[in-house]
Amino acid sequence: MAIIPLPQQIEWKSGFYTLQADVRIFIDSTIQSPTDLGDYLADSLRDNIQCTLSVEDASEKPKQNCISLGLEEGNEKLGEEGYELSIHEEWIQLTAWKPAGLFYGIQTLRQIASHSENGQIPCVQIRDVPQYPWRGVLLDCARHFLDKEFIKRYIDLSAHHKLNRLHLHLTDDQGWRIEIKKYPELTKVGAYRKDGDGVYGDFYTQEDLREIVEYAEKRFVTIIPEFEMPGHASAAIASYPHLSCRGESIPVQTKWGIFADVFCPGKESTFEFLEGVLDEITQIFPSEFIHIGGDEAPRDRWKECPHCQKRMRENDFQQEDELQGYLIKRIAEFLASKNRRLIGWDEILDVGGLPDTAVVQSWRGMKGAIRAAQLHHDVISSPNQYVYFDYPQDEQQQKSKPNWMRMTPIETVYQFQPTPPELSAEDSRRVWGAECTMWTEHAPQEKIDEQLFPRICAFSETVWSPGEGRDWDHFQERLQSHLKRLDRMGVNYYRP
Ligand code: ACM
Ligand code: ZN
Repeated sequence: MAIIPLPQQIEWKSGFYTLQADVRIFIDSTIQSPTDLGDYLADSLRDNIQCTLSVEDASEKPKQNCISLGLEEGNEKLGEEGYELSIHEEWIQLTAWKPAGLFYGIQTLRQIASHSENGQIPCVQIRDVPQYPWRGVLLDCARHFLDKEFIKRYIDLSAHHKLNRLHLHLTDDQGWRIEIKKYPELTKVGAYRKDGDGVYGDFYTQEDLREIVEYAEKRFVTIIPEFEMPGHASAAIASYPHLSCRGESIPVQTKWGIFADVFCPGKESTFEFLEGVLDEITQIFPSEFIHIGGDEAPRDRWKECPHCQKRMRENDFQQEDELQGYLIKRIAEFLASKNRRLIGWDEILDVGGLPDTAVVQSWRGMKGAIRAAQLHHDVISSPNQYVYFDYPQDEQQQKSKPNWMRMTPIETVYQFQPTPPELSAEDSRRVWGAECTMWTEHAPQEKIDEQLFPRICAFSETVWSPGEGRDWDHFQERLQSHLKRLDRMGVNYYRP
C-alpha cells in the first residue's frame, strides 16, 4: 500500500472497509474552511467508486457505513496540518485540529482508495504531521509562459503531494508576466520578445491571478509572487528605459543569461516604480511573504552611473554591493508598511544591512542556508544540487541539456535534507522547509511534467515525512504503485 509522502505513523490492521454507493460522508457544517471538505472528498473518491457519495451534517454520526470528518479541539499536537485517519471495518474516521489537516487526510484516503478492488480498502491507523511548514514548488512562468489552467493543474498536483507553497517567478529578462495598471507598458512591451520572425509572449491579468490565488487557497496552497530586482530586469527596462542607469532603450532579451542593465538604485524614480508595482502585487496576493529575487545582479552599470555614485557618497558606501543592500532595506521597509515580509535569494546575504525580518532562500548549495540561520534569518532551502528540477535526471536526459547542468537523479533528491546538519538545534529551527524549482529556459510547458515527475514525489517526502529511517528501497516500491496513480491523473512523468 503506497502512500507518498510517507505518513509519520502508520499501522496496517487486518480486515477491510468497503466503499460503496450508499456510504455517507458526515461533516460538521460549522467547520470554517476555504473549501467545502465534504464535497471535496466526495469529488476525490468519485473516480475510485464510480459514484458520488452523499454529504450530510454530522449532528447524528452512526459510526457505520460512513466517513466521518471532524475537528478535535484540544488535539493541538496535530498542528495546523496534521491528521489522524482510522479505517475500521464499519466506518472511517478522519480527525484533525484544523481544516488543512482534514484536507491532507483526504489526500491520504484518496491514495488508499485508489488501490481498492471492488471498493475494499484495508483497515489502518494513521497519525501524520508534516516535518516542515514550508513545502514549495517554484514555477518559472517568465522564461516560458504557463497557461492559467496549467498552473491550476499544478496546484492540484502539488496539494495531492501535500505541498503548500507555489512560488511564481513572474518577471525576468525574457518576459514580464503580470499586469500592473499603473505601468501598462510592462505588458504591452515587456511581455513579448522576438522569436525568429515572430514574437513570443503573454501575461496574466490581475483577474487571472486573483482566480489562481483563490483556486490555490481552496487547496491550502499559498501563492508566493516573485518580482525580480535589481537584476533580471531587462523586460521592465525595455518597457521603461529610465529605470536603468543609462536610460537607454534595450530589448526584451531573447537569449538566456545574466544581463548588465539592471535597475538603477541611484534614482528616486526607480523606487517610485518598484513601490508602485509592489503596491499592486500586495493587492493581488494575500501572502505575508513577497519574493523580490535579488540574485545575479551585475554591478557594472552602477560603477559608472552618476546617480548611483552620488547615492554611494551620500551614504558613505565603499562598494557597489551596498547599493543593493540599500535597495533591499528600502523595499523591506515598504513591504513592512503593508504588513508583508521579504524573501530573497541567498545573494542578499552579501550586500550588507539585511533587515532581520528578511527570509533567505538558499540556492547556491546550502551555504546560504547555514549562514542565514546562524545570522538568525528564517530560511527556505532550495540547493541547486538537490532540488533544481530543470537539471537532467539521467545520462539520456543530459544529452539534451546544457553541459553546466549537474545530473540530479531521483535517488539524489531522496537524500536531500532541508536542514543542514552543521546547524545547532536552535539555529535549525530557522529552517522552515524547502522549495524545488522548475526553471523554464530549457523546459517549456509541455516538458514540465517530465522534469518535475517523479522527482517531486521524492521531494515531497523530504519535506513532509520524518527524516529518520528514510528508506530508498521502500520508497522505490511505493513509487511503482504511485506511478500508476499518476498515469490515471494524466501526468506525463519521466520514463527512462
Ligand atoms: C537562481 O537560480 N538564480 C535563483
Ligand atoms: Zn544608476
